[in-house]
Amino acid sequence: MRSRLHAAHPLAGLAVLVLLAPGLPAVAAELLAPTPPMGWNSWNKFGCNVSEQLIRGAADALVTSGMKDAGYQYVVIDDCWQVRRDSEGQIVADPERFPSGIKALADYVHSKGLKFGIYSDAGTETCAKRPGSKDHEAQDARTYAGWGVDYLKYDWCNTAGQDTRDAYARMSQALRASGRPIVFSICEWGSTKPWLWAQGVGQLWRATGDIQDCWDCSRSWGGMGVVHIIDQVAELYPFAGPGHWNDPDMLEVGNGGLSADENRAHFSFWALFAAPLMAGNDLAAMSPEVREILTNREVIAVDQDPLGMQGRKLADDGAREVWVKPLADGSRAVILWNRGSEASTLSATWETIGLFPGTRARVRDLWQHADLGSLAERVQAKVAPHGVVMLRVTPQP
Ligand code: GLA
Repeated sequence: MRSRLHAAHPLAGLAVLVLLAPGLPAVAAELLAPTPPMGWNSWNKFGCNVSEQLIRGAADALVTSGMKDAGYQYVVIDDCWQVRRDSEGQIVADPERFPSGIKALADYVHSKGLKFGIYSDAGTETCAKRPGSKDHEAQDARTYAGWGVDYLKYDWCNTAGQDTRDAYARMSQALRASGRPIVFSICEWGSTKPWLWAQGVGQLWRATGDIQDCWDCSRSWGGMGVVHIIDQVAELYPFAGPGHWNDPDMLEVGNGGLSADENRAHFSFWALFAAPLMAGNDLAAMSPEVREILTNREVIAVDQDPLGMQGRKLADDGAREVWVKPLADGSRAVILWNRGSEASTLSATWETIGLFPGTRARVRDLWQHADLGSLAERVQAKVAPHGVVMLRVTPQP
């Protein structure tokens, strides 16, 4: 069990990356996101309704809410900030919604001690039919670098006839050539299995269709609720590691479609997956309960653990599942997940989670912020429907 858990050590990925793409840029790219990026993105809550006031307000709220102190760093404008290209091919921001320009907005975000991200698309148009970056990659990368962009999300709409590997490599190279370190967030929805080719191209890649603000809904166009995303990302654990993360999409925590237990389950799984934590709610208007979820430092520490392993499912009894993520200090993060609609008692044996039976281990409940004592065989807990109990199990010497 232990050897299986450690089969995909992240440093193996680093070695492969350096061999595939020798030289400083590959190593530098790896260091851009040694742990999963954390921040906020406008899309899930605001869609095309973006403006400089909104983005400034989000940056302000990241600071005042305590999210910045908890590790959230990037403020990312998604689609719809751009309206056209000028006669030189230069991308133009919406003058009504961003009258001060993108550079001034980036400066504001930086003045708060945060980093600034933006969105484009590999095709002729973005998903919301704004100009894409096709045939303008180098020009756009230079523009972004000049504005002070730190993060680019790069989408895949309107790309007929294009190849994902070529298109993402082109923008990746353009970003490197710009001379500014810019995190590259690949967003082709898992359509060409980016976990097999995107390491060294970008630091994170979307693994699924668009998340929806619901527990288990599905949309005909590919949108899906939290449960479906968890099931789809589950098998991708060998491909995550420092500098190259599976991205199960941005958080819906606090957007209203999930119960408190479901919000906690959603956040817990993203942490267990070592997923990027990009909040997607209205930060300026969130409830104390939502803020408490998004700033749970014990859960965030699991996400940001330097070992960088994606956790996985190790026991499945119908509605009752045990998921485990090995951590750098030898602890295991454990999720007891009740998928069912009735409260249920779940347990995880030490054998299941990769510890020798009889090992004494300290057990901490990461949502109750409580020590459950030193246990030797198993841990057991009652779990609410659709809920989780998330634990940190630390073997004692
Ligand atoms: C796609 C992406 C979303 C969002 C929209 C913007 O659907 O997957 O995350 O960026 O485009 O139009």
